[in-house]
Amino acid sequence: MSYPTVRNRRLRRTSALRSLVRETVLSANDFIYPIFVTFGHNIKEEIPSMPGVYHLSMDRLEEEIRDVIAAGIQSVLLFGIPEHKDAIGASAYDANGIVQQAIRAVKEWAPELVVIADTCLCQFTDHGHCGIVHVHEATGTAEVDNDSSLDLLVQTAISQAQAGADIIAPSNMMDGFVLAIRDGLDEAGFSDIPILSYSVKYASAFYGPFRDAAHSAPQFGDRKTYQMDPANVREALREAESDVAEGADMLMVKPALAYLDVIKLLKEQFDLPVAAYNVSAEYSMVKAAAANGWIDERAVVLETLTGMKRAGADLIITYHAKDAARWLKGEE
Ligand code: PBG
Repeated sequence: MSYPTVRNRRLRRTSALRSLVRETVLSANDFIYPIFVTFGHNIKEEIPSMPGVYHLSMDRLEEEIRDVIAAGIQSVLLFGIPEHKDAIGASAYDANGIVQQAIRAVKEWAPELVVIADTCLCQFTDHGHCGIVHVHEATGTAEVDNDSSLDLLVQTAISQAQAGADIIAPSNMMDGFVLAIRDGLDEAGFSDIPILSYSVKYASAFYGPFRDAAHSAPQFGDRKTYQMDPANVREALREAESDVAEGADMLMVKPALAYLDVIKLLKEQFDLPVAAYNVSAEYSMVKAAAANGWIDERAVVLETLTGMKRAGADLIITYHAKDAARWLKGEE
């Protein structure tokens, strides 16, 4: 007689049994919620490609912060849309820049909320690149210059720490940015402020909606000389290794869904917390399919976030954070 000798289904028989043997459990503590802040008054404007995500002016930010806290989330990642852009992104490191103002306000309303500042120049430069652009005289080609960009990044990080940021998250992918920022923060008296490095950031098509939202698309060329080739994973190890050596406190992989293998690898290879960035187009695709009635949004979101955590993410930056936190609490 032939019958199964192994019965894996025994542990799946009831909901209680399944929860008893569940290996990965999502929690609102895992989530970081990104917020876009803009100048102006009484602005709460939905980003067309990101339903449920808004541009908020400072006077509408407090209600958003209250909502984030009510959902049970303890951390936000702030992005700013400046009034003026120039070649050197001067408003990125202005003490009264949009991000600096927002950090100060949020820390005043909610001192316990962990405020993370994205440290980059692309929202603030008129050319939309993440560093200073130099034009080669001989060839006429434009290049993003690594070393001269570092100084501006350091100034940006210090101004964000001075405003009260709890974590600095440099995202511009210049070589040496973690070391430069660590030294700069230490010298400015912020040796206790951790760096969450966008260590492994791919040159991805999944940032499209974000660039619409942050008005940060490059005006010429692309980001492929500083962001990574999606085909590479050994290079991801080199990026993470140098960040660890330079003093990063946490490592990030971005985007998340197409790079779960990279999340797993970093988790296995390093002892630092690993963050996954569930980026804008990953959000937009779910929203679009759900709006068409093609998928069950709640189930799909919780399944994908669980997948990121199962792959090794200790933290997940996601635009779904508020919804997911409420679903986990059993609220609609
Ligand atoms: C800034 C930055 C980007 C994102 C986060 N920080 C855009 C980019 O690199 O072009 C994308 C986030 C998302 O798509 O949700 N460098």
